[in-house]
Amino acid sequence: MHEKLIILDFGSQTTQLIGRRVRELNMYCEILPYNKFPHDATDVKGVILSGSPYSVYDENAFKADLSEIRGKYPVLGICYGAQFLAYTSGGNVEPANSREYGRANLSYINNEDPLLKGIDTGSQIWMSHGDTITVLPDNFKVIASTDDVKAAAYHVEGEQTWGVQFHPEVFHSTDGTKLLDNFLNICGCAKDWTPFIESTVAELKEQLGDDKVILALSGGVDSSVTAVLLNKAIGKNLTCIFVDHGLLRKNEFENVMKDYEHLGLNVIGVNAKDKFYKALAGVTEPEQKRKIIGKGFIDVFDEEAHKLKDIKWLGQGTIYPDVIESLSITGTVIKSHHNVGGLPDTMKLQLVEPLRLLFKDEVRRVGIELGMQPHLIKRHPFPGPGLGIRILGDITPEKVRILQDADDIYMSLMREWGLYDKIWQAGVILLPIQSVGVMGDERTYENTVALRAVTSTDAMTADWAQLPYEFLAKVSNEIINKVKGVNRVVYDISSKPPATIEWE
Ligand code: XMP
Repeated sequence: MHEKLIILDFGSQTTQLIGRRVRELNMYCEILPYNKFPHDATDVKGVILSGSPYSVYDENAFKADLSEIRGKYPVLGICYGAQFLAYTSGGNVEPANSREYGRANLSYINNEDPLLKGIDTGSQIWMSHGDTITVLPDNFKVIASTDDVKAAAYHVEGEQTWGVQFHPEVFHSTDGTKLLDNFLNICGCAKDWTPFIESTVAELKEQLGDDKVILALSGGVDSSVTAVLLNKAIGKNLTCIFVDHGLLRKNEFENVMKDYEHLGLNVIGVNAKDKFYKALAGVTEPEQKRKIIGKGFIDVFDEEAHKLKDIKWLGQGTIYPDVIESLSITGTVIKSHHNVGGLPDTMKLQLVEPLRLLFKDEVRRVGIELGMQPHLIKRHPFPGPGLGIRILGDITPEKVRILQDADDIYMSLMREWGLYDKIWQAGVILLPIQSVGVMGDERTYENTVALRAVTSTDAMTADWAQLPYEFLAKVSNEIINKVKGVNRVVYDISSKPPATIEWE
């Protein structure tokens, strides 16, 4: 049995990131619902309480009984977790005067405290909360502050209990990993856990035997790595289906098909563009567009699968964030991603999801270890509904053409200028706005496109990329000169949160 850290999930969007950071520090951890602490477990080294979309004083707030946790294990409360600890010990939590989102810097740090060992004043942290602790209980001592938030971090005297109101787990908290590592050291963790990636192929061989598997490829990293892993385990018993829904990047379908063939995968490519365009005609509501694309995809897949014989398994490129997102205890759907579940029950297939416990970076590492070409592995994430959610409003083949051409210029220049690998994800959005321009002596009244590029490590938080002006000027010029139907280019300078990466 592995020693483990328990992360109690109060519903924050970033709970899974805490898990990921802990694993990166080679400590095994489990994320459990806030009220499901395994009281009979003997191998727990410490407990982290996550953030939450609720305020501690909300009627519906998730309340955990910590009486058998505090004092028994080291505890670290993060954001809501910290507020919950303070509130339930007689402190006070109130709506903050100014909502505390985004970047801040620690202006005071108690270096004597083991949680903050090696972290200096000025360290950048990331805040994301509408409440703040206004009164700490007497035995809760402030160990770090920002200019605006006095109790940015505290320690409970006489207990191995700490709270931080910021998010050490997000990439933009620069010393966040150090803080979590300090916590693991406080817990006395051996930090000797490593994921057993190599054993996956052997397990798949054992699990699947001579059974046949089908898998839907999307062109993205997750499904491609899944396919290569399965191919290594069962070879020709794997059939892959790659659907062109007409919302892929320019020439993407043809290029990716070549890559797949090069990898020795057994792939059936299906051109279903017209079917999707027809189903999407006139639809403007983003979630409805996602549902139509998701369903269309399943229909095509189902049809192809029925042509094959004796299929027993469905392979899926589900990764850990997808699993967590679909288990969300709050039921808050910000955007419904269609990667998990959704296939008709009539297919009666068992699921095989070899990447289910991995994060994106881990998946990329597996891909590289499997010898996949770097351009496949380093490919930016691309949403399942594709350009369908980058054309705001209704979708027409003409709009797809405009967006594909603009996007192609942007992405090609990004590669040419050596910027592609520095960016987490980029793309062009076609806005439902027309504006006046002048080309030659003619007045134009044409479309506006927005360029988006973000830096991130996990898509949970993202910052807009500070691309060079010269590059943006070049992209704008090329798009306006070469893409018929566009006379204005703008650049999106919003971070996530509060914005999201995609516009829909
Ligand atoms: P947001 O826009 O929520 O995006 O900040 C986070 C990440 O998820 C991708 N995304 C999707 N992926 N189906 C997908 O497979 C979807 O419906 C979807 N919506 C957003 C987005 O591109 C980014 O990488």
